[in-house]
Amino acid sequence: MDNQIFIKKDCLNKDPSTVKFNFLENGQDQSGFIVFFDKKYYAYKNKCQHLEVELDWENNNFFEDENKLIICATHGALYEPKSGKCLMGPCKGKNLEILNLKVLEDELIVTI
Ligand code: FES
Repeated sequence: MDNQIFIKKDCLNKDPSTVKFNFLENGQDQSGFIVFFDKKYYAYKNKCQHLEVELDWENNNFFEDENKLIICATHGALYEPKSGKCLMGPCKGKNLEILNLKVLEDELIVTI
């Protein structure tokens, strides 16, 4: 059965900004996040492609200093917010796991 997570767009009121959520997948707790970047929304699993760790360096802080790229807190891999592609670091060329995201007028729905 599909698992749906509903998030109010108001939670992402800056560009860029992020919001985290948790979900169950195959009975295991997982973390995901939505990125609002350049006026568009993207959803990814919160898991680096180098090692199985969460990306954020503080809770819900995903961006590097210039707010242009997502950075992994562990070894500094840099990911493009629009595609989830790793541009630099030990997992260069790999992609964050993209989650299914539906954008409605006031709400975002992630379907697992
Ligand atoms: S665990 Fe993310 S770059 Fe190594």
